[in-house]
Amino acid sequence: MQIEIVPLTENDIDAVARLARVVWQDTYTSIITQAQIDYMLGERYAAPRLREELQTPGIWWDLARIRDGEGCRLAGFAASYLTGVPGEMKLDKLYVHPARQRAGIGGTLIATVAGRAREQGCTSLILAVNKNNARAIGAYRKHGFAVRESVRVDIGQGFVMDDYIMALSL
Ligand SMILES: CC(C)(COP(=O)(O)OP(=O)(O)OC[C@H]1O[C@@H](n2cnc3c(N)ncnc32)[C@H](O)[C@@H]1OP(=O)(O)O)[C@@H](O)C(=O)NCCC(=O)NCCS
Repeated sequence: MQIEIVPLTENDIDAVARLARVVWQDTYTSIITQAQIDYMLGERYAAPRLREELQTPGIWWDLARIRDGEGCRLAGFAASYLTGVPGEMKLDKLYVHPARQRAGIGGTLIATVAGRAREQGCTSLILAVNKNNARAIGAYRKHGFAVRESVRVDIGQGFVMDDYIMALSL
């Protein structure tokens, strides 16, 4: 299996939104309500929003494709942005298809984002992860992140994100 990292293009937007739905349903149904999943997916993966992010300097979307005997297909993606705090980039999204997890795709995406952060002169890569998302917390620890703080963020419509902020020194 060969992993390819390529930038998101307009043509991939629908496939990314579909993959996000598959991974979110697999990950979050035991952690947050279905209403919160639907609200957050609608907010974050609406096509106009993704198109706008594609045009915005300081935001990057990376797709992971795998090439095997059956061809080349989308297996995961990451999104990252410069937070505005000097030297800091945020890994804002990291999702790998449930059937493709634990094969190094998440680590490859993290390495890609960390490499770009270094190129941008950053010294720290941060992220927010739900406190009950043990799988992701395990993956982030494995790839060098450590918990920096605990936060509760009101995201509207009565929903709250109960997260750890984790950081990787670059
Ligand atoms: C977190 C995530 C992106 C990691 O991607 P990945 O391709 O599995 O990552 P890697 O193969 O590089 O790293 C694997 C590590 O992740 C963790 N992990 C991944 N899948 C796991 C699973 N099903 N069960 C337990 N641990 C798992 C383990 O720590 C694993 O290390 P190990 O195999 O040595 O025990 C992926 O699990 C995912 O998409 N999860 C659902 C979405 C999500 O929670 N995203 C993060 C939002 S903040």
